[in-house]
Amino acid sequence: MNNITGTIRSHMAITLMVAAAWHATPAKAQTLEGKWVADWRVLDNGEKNRLFLDLKQNDAKITGTATTIGHRYQADGTVTGTRFEISFSKGGNPRKLAGEIAGEQLNLKYEGAALVAKRATPEDEYPAYEKLPLPPLKDLPDNGLVKTPPMGWNSWNKFHRGVTDAIVREMSDAMVTSGMRDAGYIYLCIDDTWEGVRDPEGNLGSNDKFPDMKALADYVHSKGLKLGIYSSPGPRTCADYPGSYGYEQQDANTFAAWGVDYLKHDWCGARMIYGDKDQQAVYQKMGEALQATGRPIVYSICNYGVAKVETWGAKAGGNLWRTTGDISDTWKSMRANIERQAPLASFAGPGRWNDPDMLEVGNGGMTDTEYRTHMSLWAITAAPLIAGNDIRNMTPAIKEILLNREVIAVNQDVLGKQATPRKDGTLETWVKPLADGSVAVAVVNLGESEADVVVKVSDLGLAGNVSSARDLWAHADVSFRDGVYAQKVASHDVLMLRVGSKP
Ligand code: GLA
Repeated sequence: MNNITGTIRSHMAITLMVAAAWHATPAKAQTLEGKWVADWRVLDNGEKNRLFLDLKQNDAKITGTATTIGHRYQADGTVTGTRFEISFSKGGNPRKLAGEIAGEQLNLKYEGAALVAKRATPEDEYPAYEKLPLPPLKDLPDNGLVKTPPMGWNSWNKFHRGVTDAIVREMSDAMVTSGMRDAGYIYLCIDDTWEGVRDPEGNLGSNDKFPDMKALADYVHSKGLKLGIYSSPGPRTCADYPGSYGYEQQDANTFAAWGVDYLKHDWCGARMIYGDKDQQAVYQKMGEALQATGRPIVYSICNYGVAKVETWGAKAGGNLWRTTGDISDTWKSMRANIERQAPLASFAGPGRWNDPDMLEVGNGGMTDTEYRTHMSLWAITAAPLIAGNDIRNMTPAIKEILLNREVIAVNQDVLGKQATPRKDGTLETWVKPLADGSVAVAVVNLGESEADVVVKVSDLGLAGNVSSARDLWAHADVSFRDGVYAQKVASHDVLMLRVGSKP
């Protein structure tokens, strides 16, 4: 195109745009009231996800619902001129939508994407799901697995929706070469977005990112590791992929046939159908299905710690249950999760663990000091140690944290006790009784400056006198004098000891 033609064309385009804008301007005030639909993500299994809004506008206030293929949220927001903001509160992880009314079109910003919503037709509406009957409650037998907290790796914290077969294979290799496997990190877990679609017989396959799940399981097993996978009791997962709703036994059989050893079952899309009072029966359904396969499969319940899951998780066949919302890679989030884990100590024991979510150690949002504290807190609270970083690329400092065998030994202690904390100003002291009669102690400095930490034998609940004491991060023996051990601890750092006793 020469310059003159180009200039004429762009002038024509501007004129057309101005004309279009002119015609689109409605005579009456623009409103959000009504039903709107926007194309959203195309999922990795080829399904098209869309955002469906059903809104009411009362002056500046917006209420209504927002629905995707897997979630129905309550929507609340405000309008200022032609701009508006809506938050999706109940129905899933909180989300925000920002937009602008442009006549009969809405220009939206949602989850980092620019979307255009148009007036919806009845065909755009998502059909409602039928509520299937639930089994009567019972106590499922103990599956005998993970008598010490599960250890492994999960794809979500680092890779989110980007996980692939190649990444999982490389991670398997790295688990071996880095020494992670030999330190006990055995379960290599694929999180959400591996799912394909169901075939005409209802069998769920994987999507193109995972061309052959059985072959991948074989590869993972050949490295001396075990394979974890992810699903939901709802029709859709948190990332809106197909869940196991109505296909519990069929999916459990598929997972077993692939050679899966661990299932994380994530509530999310189940909210479309069930209330919190249904949760135990819903989780029991998959618990029974897994046990019926005859394959030993660790059952990880992920319901963000609601509906008193700690009181029924093990009855439903669960080996671990989330006690919190999703962790993020910040000190604040890590601390919020451990605070929610703390009061649940009495519910933990061999084969049944409180899970404050996967580790963020090595993902870059905290300092190495804070990651050391994160690791210590997860270890001492008998939390599952599921690494969430890129095992292929670890700095020496991160390796040292994740591979600290003395700290891991505290976590893997066969007594299976979860430590409880005591606060004294900005110092927080956790004590965990261990099988050999010794105790693990972690003192965290929550303050913003260095603190003098004094550990008193009288606070440790030991049966006798101190016979040994070891600093688990310094890898050095230390001595108590006159019933105390004192050390300076930097801000957000931790002192972690193992203290033995004899009569
Ligand atoms: C939820 C879970 C996360 C992760 C995502 C995947 O948010 O809590 O751990 O599994 O879903 O979509």
